[in-house]
Amino acid sequence: MIGLQRITALMVLGTAIHVMAAGGAVPAAPNGIELPKGYKDWRVIGSSYRSDKKQLRVIVGNDTAVQAARAGNTHPWPDGAILAKLAWKEKVDEHWPTALVPGDFAQAEFMVKDAKKYAATGGWGYARWVGMDQKPYGKDANFVQECLACHTAVKNNDWMFTHPAPFP
Ligand code: HEC
Repeated sequence: MIGLQRITALMVLGTAIHVMAAGGAVPAAPNGIELPKGYKDWRVIGSSYRSDKKQLRVIVGNDTAVQAARAGNTHPWPDGAILAKLAWKEKVDEHWPTALVPGDFAQAEFMVKDAKKYAATGGWGYARWVGMDQKPYGKDANFVQECLACHTAVKNNDWMFTHPAPFP
């Protein structure tokens, strides 16, 4: 027979597991885009340095994006391609003062290609998560207009600033 105490203990445990699971999940961006799983293991497409923001950036992509980049198939990028820009504050290397290395993690931002679904924004869905706690950026779905304000400058390059870095 299961006693009342035991049932209570199980209920408490159930709630604890639920809270832990919820605590581990990163909330979606205000336009519904979820943080892409596994992005920390994606491969390199390019890299940049923003001298005004003093940030090191690495541009990585999922398999579809990396295949397209290596094959030069980026005009336009294929549906399913996701590019991420990961940014860190610059830090002077403690053993080599002329080397700038990643300091604090600043943000991760994404462009998700789906020509039909995101037709209103040039075929790309935009999302950004800020800081180590990965706080979704934007008050509401209109934050995308901010992204477009800059990315319109590269409309003719399928809205991408990045040209895949040359490889031997
Ligand atoms: C102030 C201008 C500006 C705004 C606003 C902006 N971007 Fe960008 N974005 C850039 C520039 C410049 C680059 C390329 C160089 C870099 O910053 O490293 C870039 C690069 C990117 C890249 C890498 C692919 C590419 O185009 O080169 C992604 C992904 C990206 N931005 C997502 C976003 C998202 C999501 C938003 C909105 C939340 C956004 N950007 C808003 C200027 C901007």
